[in-house]
Amino acid sequence: MDRYCVFGNPIAHSKSPEIHAAYAAQTGQELRYEKRLAPLDGFAAAVHAFIAEGGLGANVTVPFKLEAVKVANALTIRAQAAGAVNTLHFTEDGIIGDNTDGAGLVADIVGNAGVAITGKRVLLLGAGGAARGVVLPILEHRPAQLVIANRTVATAVALAEQFAALGGEGVVSGCGFADIEGGFDIVINATSASLGAEVPPVSPSVFAPGALALDMMYSKSPTVFLQFAAQHGARLRDGLGMLVEQAAEAFSVWRGVRPVTGEVLQQLRDQL
Ligand code: ATR
Repeated sequence: MDRYCVFGNPIAHSKSPEIHAAYAAQTGQELRYEKRLAPLDGFAAAVHAFIAEGGLGANVTVPFKLEAVKVANALTIRAQAAGAVNTLHFTEDGIIGDNTDGAGLVADIVGNAGVAITGKRVLLLGAGGAARGVVLPILEHRPAQLVIANRTVATAVALAEQFAALGGEGVVSGCGFADIEGGFDIVINATSASLGAEVPPVSPSVFAPGALALDMMYSKSPTVFLQFAAQHGARLRDGLGMLVEQAAEAFSVWRGVRPVTGEVLQQLRDQL
């Protein structure tokens, strides 16, 4: 049977095997998808061992998304832009490194939440790995403006400058949390602040009337960022939709067929 896996450390919590098993059943594809704990100093060896066993592809999660760039023989444009790889495809031409996180986020916003990005003002909080991965897919939807705000201002400015040079000129800019001006239609929390139950210190005025607030994190109860957004009238979305969508995109890279995600998303939500 065709084999895939997800590499991470830790990996026990991963929902990916369940998600991909559901997609395989739905699309009538025969495959096996397992979790693999890679040693912290042995990611590349784990990938090559899986290839030797006949593996056809793999997802990559924390903390290996940067190392996966080096393991790949070639990168897709979106993986180059993200500077990180979450999907490996083992082909006759070598190991292709891709990144489906941004496409997953955009699919969740546009497809699942039903909110167009085109012509909208978008605020991206954070400038680390998670933020970097979604900038290009957001810009591809031609927002009116994309402001990247970060605690370390220089990182946000550098990230914005990089994407301004890649076609985002006049659309993308970077600043600190205190310098954000105006309201936004879509506010995305890509900081890891929610892990420590903290909210990036932004003014409630960032939420334009009817704004969509999205936290890339998810948990049983709304994250502190989503609680803050709710208090200021925003519509809420957590990172579970992005999770199932990035998986659907990876599945489509490997198998050439894109599963529908609605039922799987509901199933995962019910299990939280
Ligand atoms: P990830 O892969 O999750 O993006 P990362 O690359 O370490 O992890 O980036 C973490 C992001 O969350 C950064 O933008 C970080 O801000 P700094 O660049 O200033 O470090 C942001 N972050 C982490 N904790 C935060 C907090 N308590 N408040 C605001 N931003 C926070």
